[in-house]
Amino acid sequence: MTIAQTAEYWRNQAEALKFEGRLFIDGDFAPAKSGAVFESINPANGGVIAEVSRGDADDIDRAVASGQKAYKSGIWARMPPRQRMAVLLRFADLIEAHAGEFAMIDTIDMGKPISEMLTVDVPLAVLCFRFTGECIDKVQGSVGATSPDVLSYVLRQPLGVVGCIVPWNYPLLMTAWKIAPALAAGNSVVLKPAEQSPLSAVLLARLFIEAGGPAGVLNVVNGFGPEAGKALALHPDVEKIAFTGSVEIGKLMMVYSGQSNLKKVSTECGGKSPHVIMADAANLETAATWAAMGIFGNQGEVCCAGSRILVQKKILDEFVDIFRTKATTGYVPGDPLDPSTSMGPMVDVSQQKRVLNYIDIGKQAGARCILGGDAPSGLERGAFVAPTIFTGVDNTMTIAREEIFGPVASIIAFDDYGEAVRIANDTSFGLAAGIWTSDLGTAHRFARDVEAGMVYINSYMNGDMQFPFGGWKQSGNGRDKCMDALLSYTQTKSVWATIE
Ligand code: NAI
Ligand code: MG
Repeated sequence: MTIAQTAEYWRNQAEALKFEGRLFIDGDFAPAKSGAVFESINPANGGVIAEVSRGDADDIDRAVASGQKAYKSGIWARMPPRQRMAVLLRFADLIEAHAGEFAMIDTIDMGKPISEMLTVDVPLAVLCFRFTGECIDKVQGSVGATSPDVLSYVLRQPLGVVGCIVPWNYPLLMTAWKIAPALAAGNSVVLKPAEQSPLSAVLLARLFIEAGGPAGVLNVVNGFGPEAGKALALHPDVEKIAFTGSVEIGKLMMVYSGQSNLKKVSTECGGKSPHVIMADAANLETAATWAAMGIFGNQGEVCCAGSRILVQKKILDEFVDIFRTKATTGYVPGDPLDPSTSMGPMVDVSQQKRVLNYIDIGKQAGARCILGGDAPSGLERGAFVAPTIFTGVDNTMTIAREEIFGPVASIIAFDDYGEAVRIANDTSFGLAAGIWTSDLGTAHRFARDVEAGMVYINSYMNGDMQFPFGGWKQSGNGRDKCMDALLSYTQTKSVWATIE
């Protein structure tokens, strides 16, 4: 089936399906102990999709206990590496076999276009499980060069129970980036999905069992951040929290760690990434296409969105014209279940309000809104925001400093390379950065000078499973994907043996 046919098929299924909304603990579905539920809402039309169990500290306790029991039994942690690999590879195959279902679920749960789910989120999640699974037997310890009467070696062992707290902007994919390495390293996992997008995680947990994963190794506790999430992050038997979300909550993770058991904390906390267009860019059309994708793709709800577009003054007018055309033609809000739709609603009404409020703040500060700036007409039932472009933005304005997490581009003009780098680095964030130039020296100088965890030269948001994903400064302290990510879910043990 083509992507359009797959999308069409699942669009029809969406009406009829009843979604599983219970928690998944110790290898089985379970309601919250309290019996409480919350509604999962389709942001494209305000409709209720499912009732979801609202887990709290009691359910986190049950899930952590189950994870710990599985961990201590050694059924997963001590499984021979290639067997564990086989489970994860089967898991990847099963996710791939359920691609359409995952696409439909995340689309109606959080609003992104189903075509994007089928071409980006699902294939990349599958790839993540495959890559990470294949890495399992490539992890090595080491032998130290000590003295001849000593054998000293370093083992890499799992941590125990790992808590994964994930956001809603790529529900399946962000979950994969956290749980794949945690599981591959032999840990048990308690996953707390975002309350805005709880449904795909439950399907994922069921498929893990179907792939041969032991009960208790992957548990899912849906619920709200301050209830289920906080209880997980404070839990004394959780050895690591892997978090993606806002800076504010990322900081809290470190506080919770200090207040409990000094668990390891890895954070990925978004950004205000600079995307620099130099006057000597080889092709302004291409640069504008990628700049538009960088801020309007996934409705702008992207941690590494290129939300500050820095343009050299010599080409400002020309670039802005092309960029506006790309935004207008390439990103048209509509029904995300329609396979031809390029832009869905915000994840919920509160995110829509938040984004529209930032747009007002931009207007009041004197930036010029040359496209969008409001909710598009005709789509009032959903939480939509029109693709919005501000020109005349100064880097001191709120819209240039705070993460908006919506389709709002701030265009900032600069004179020369030095000024571009100064503006690029004048931010508390440091996740991604991009530059378009035909001068090799400028490109690599930028890669050296910019304060960011990921730099794109003549492209944007590209990557690969080997490419570490994570930020500098307040964009967080962790790295996802890559071999380093897998190692971050292990701990070393130094062994010293004297030889008589
Ligand atoms: P958030 O940081 O509140 O939510 C992320 C995750 O943390 C969710 O699973 C949530 O339930 C959990 N959480 C919230 N409070 C918690 C607590 N006290 N203890 C433990 N877990 C907790 O982000 P939110 O409110 O959904 O979005 C607000 C803003 O955060 C967005 O507008 C955006 O700027 C940023 N954000 C960045 C993301 C990224 O990819 N880096 C993803 C999501 C949001
Ligand atoms: Mg929140």
